[in-house]
Amino acid sequence: MFKTGVLTISDKGSKGQREDKSGPVIRESVAMMNGRVVKYEIVPDNKETIAAKLCDWADGGELDIVLTTGGTGLAERDITPEATLSVVDREVPGIAEAMRIKSLDKTPTAMLSRAVAGQRGRCLIINLPGSPKAVKECLEVIMPALPHAVEIIRGEVTEHSLQDAGIQ
Ligand code: MTE
Repeated sequence: MFKTGVLTISDKGSKGQREDKSGPVIRESVAMMNGRVVKYEIVPDNKETIAAKLCDWADGGELDIVLTTGGTGLAERDITPEATLSVVDREVPGIAEAMRIKSLDKTPTAMLSRAVAGQRGRCLIINLPGSPKAVKECLEVIMPALPHAVEIIRGEVTEHSLQDAGIQ
């Protein structure tokens, strides 16, 4: 079981002017992976606010994964990747690469997401695009690798877990 934080990034959502439909989609997917969402918040598209929240959650030591949704595109206010890069110790580029490559089979606009992923301490932070459809499609791509990612970060990798992940 791993613990997840869901951070929805939306100016309108943070003011209660738009219902967050992507947060619940993430919650469902996390449950399917035997994970649990233990933190959930909506923040505006503000670099400092996003970065502070990511640090707070990652440094709290409780969360294995933080999934953000929104603010990865080309609009003037989209700042999620920059905020994420300002707080991670190192990037995990394959996660965002996989999301974009696989999503291109579904829609050419997948290339417009600038999502990134990286580690801060023992927490894996992953950007997802904003729409519920995009969230579902991207999570389908990365979900098979997430439990193993958490095991590695926790230092729990065994021969059995490698076999289960199809690595040995
Ligand atoms: N990825 C998938 N799998 N499916 C989608 O429908 N939408 C794209 C892209 N990634 C999409 C997707 C669109 S239209 C945009 S503008 C970018 O994600 C950025 O979205 P964001 O600004 O809401 O984060």
